[in-house]
Amino acid sequence: MTALRSFAQRVGNIDISGIRKIFEAAGADSINLGLGQPDFDTPDHIKQAAINAIKDGFTGYTTNLGIPELRQALSGGFKLNNNFEVDPDDIIITSGASEALHIALLALVDQGDEVIMPDPGFVSYAPLTDLAGGRVVGVPLSENLTMTADIVANHITDKTRVLIINSPSNPTGTVQTRDEIRGLCEIADDHNIVIISDEVYEHIIYSGEHVSPAEYSDNTITINATSKTYAMTGWRLGYAAAPHDITEQMLKAHQYVQACANSIAQMAALAAVTGPQDCVIEMRDSFRRRRDLLMVGLREMGLDCVEPQGAFYAFPKVDNSIEAVQELLEKGVITTPGTAFGSNGDGYIRLSYATSDENILRALEIMGQVL
Ligand SMILES: Cc1ncc(COP(=O)(O)O)c(C=O)c1O
Repeated sequence: MTALRSFAQRVGNIDISGIRKIFEAAGADSINLGLGQPDFDTPDHIKQAAINAIKDGFTGYTTNLGIPELRQALSGGFKLNNNFEVDPDDIIITSGASEALHIALLALVDQGDEVIMPDPGFVSYAPLTDLAGGRVVGVPLSENLTMTADIVANHITDKTRVLIINSPSNPTGTVQTRDEIRGLCEIADDHNIVIISDEVYEHIIYSGEHVSPAEYSDNTITINATSKTYAMTGWRLGYAAAPHDITEQMLKAHQYVQACANSIAQMAALAAVTGPQDCVIEMRDSFRRRRDLLMVGLREMGLDCVEPQGAFYAFPKVDNSIEAVQELLEKGVITTPGTAFGSNGDGYIRLSYATSDENILRALEIMGQVL
């Protein structure tokens, strides 16, 4: 007999990611421009640190916050590269940036509180807001596909609690300018809104500069991960740096849902952030070359696309985008409809160029026929 089950509304109300649905429908030999991860292997010195951790028996729980050496190194990095100071004890090592986003929203958002986020924006922001009981307020982007203070201002109410900023952006590949970041921080501070800054593509940036909102506003949770920077998506290692009172509250959620991040991945992350950074530069340069290859092809096709300055995504405008994605899928090219990232993504598709030159060229040829 099949049991009659009922489920909590908080999960009933959210949907499986639109990206996953497309992967499930794709043929095995499709060219995949849908991937949200580097196509590189984790560098050897990082793997070796994990192997050593296992051999040394570093296999138990760590402190809830995460190992002190890693938090110390991250704190030093924030001061040196991001122009803000954070005590190592106000950094929580998490299971990927995903967990950091989750515990940040759990700590800040009460039933009915509003969370402003880019639309189109990364697929997790809206469901995680729903799970926390908040109300999703997706704001449209500027013509350059960035988030601006003017647009955000129109969406602030007395219920607004959080503003999510993501630069470089998934899905658009755009990078917020220093002035835009400063403007967003000012408006957030004026309204006592906490900024959650998702900086996972910080080191995959080709032009413009990476500016952390925490440089301008103390009321900021900075989230990052080793996932994209060091080709470590499967290791599940992220971190959140926040003011002390916010860290205390986030830590409660982290303690009971996660206990601590994976001990072995923490040792690998320590090797990643304190070791040689040539691998990061090499991967970035290779993404830049592929971006150029893709952009030449898109321009030849006459597609309108803001030049991506970071991450590994291009976000061209495409008429009838949902049908276009379907047709490309039938011809063997996996892409993602802009609507997977919010209703304002209609009329766009996301192309990930974290794949070989050969795949990019072949996909362009097929896109030329279909679009
Ligand atoms: C903007 C953005 N934030 C967060 C994440 C999740 O990162 P992690 O794999 O470290 O959980 C992703 C992954 O695609 C992302 O694109």
